Amino acid sequence: MELLETQEFYVCDGDELLDGDCIKLPLKFRGKKDSALIIRDRGKVRAFHNLCVHMPRTLDCESHSVFDFEKQQLRCSMHGIVYSSETGESLSEICRGKKLTSIRIIEQDNKILIRDKRVARL
Ligand code: FES
Repeated sequence: MELLETQEFYVCDGDELLDGDCIKLPLKFRGKKDSALIIRDRGKVRAFHNLCVHMPRTLDCESHSVFDFEKQQLRCSMHGIVYSSETGESLSEICRGKKLTSIRIIEQDNKILIRDKRVARL
């Protein structure tokens, strides 16, 4: 059962994450202390490893806000690379073709759960 606990864990209730909201969640990613960004984007819950593809910085290193002004895309607060909030792919010229690492997340029975072998609770 311990294996299951490291592969799936509760993040929050679904109604705690409103559209355009983002939760920064401390966790272990591939065994290292790290964080993820849990977002609700146009109704859908998504999670990304909180690491920019440009430089080894978190997307929120300069500002807590990681959505752009229209809350349509994600934006790294360091140099402003814009990412698709759906796929995590860079939409900026710089780093075009690279993408944020998605973390598997599900929403069921008003519970948001991470279910990803690379991720463990801190
Ligand atoms: S470190 Fe994210 S855009 Fe440069």
